[in-house]
Amino acid sequence: MTQDELKALVGQAALQYVVPGEIVGVGTGSTVNKFIDALASMKDQIQGAVSSSEASTSRLKALGIPVFDSNDVTELAVYIDGADEIDGQGNMVKGGGAALTREKIVAAQSKMFVCIADESKLVDHLGTFPLPVEVIPMASARIMAQFAKMGGQAQVRLKDGQPLVTDNGQHILDVKGLTISDPVAFETEVSQWPGVVTVGVFAYQKAQVCLLGTSAGVKTLQF
Ligand code: 5RP
Repeated sequence: MTQDELKALVGQAALQYVVPGEIVGVGTGSTVNKFIDALASMKDQIQGAVSSSEASTSRLKALGIPVFDSNDVTELAVYIDGADEIDGQGNMVKGGGAALTREKIVAAQSKMFVCIADESKLVDHLGTFPLPVEVIPMASARIMAQFAKMGGQAQVRLKDGQPLVTDNGQHILDVKGLTISDPVAFETEVSQWPGVVTVGVFAYQKAQVCLLGTSAGVKTLQF
């Protein structure tokens, strides 16, 4: 099976976690796009979605799925999103699609995080995928220097030759060469650096379930 087919498989499998009559939290990315497309088949059974990006909002609306402001919803039963890496405890690296801040917000208001991913995303230890960090632009240079002290090499993510601007009007650093042996400690430390909006380690908002697309079918990991 191709990677695209594996993404479609887990996108479809995630429907079993959507609670009829409720609002579902929706992530961002190519795997989530498969989930959104599948969700259209049960749009009459749900109230709608809280979305983690402008891109997912557009896709949801185009399929006739109402999108709610996260401020108008107290708690979501489930949040469904992809990951760039997930380890054997459900800790993740996210933000390859630059939506990490809103993803962490919607994950935090959800009782359960269901990660959907193809098997290439499962790792022993986080840190091979360059770590996305959303930052206030005026702090970029100092944050890059702080990562250098940890052995990381940070770069400002570009789009069309210019710094990419997130849905929140900020920039993204991608950091290579980090060792993330203790994801909770790492997330705790980097989150309190001035100018860091969101670090792409999801240890506090880790997954409870991962639907992993493998050539043998969907494997369910529980954490
Ligand atoms: C977006 C994300 C995505 O979940 C992550 O990048 C995985 O994306 P894809 O499903 O396209 O591989 O964190 O910010």
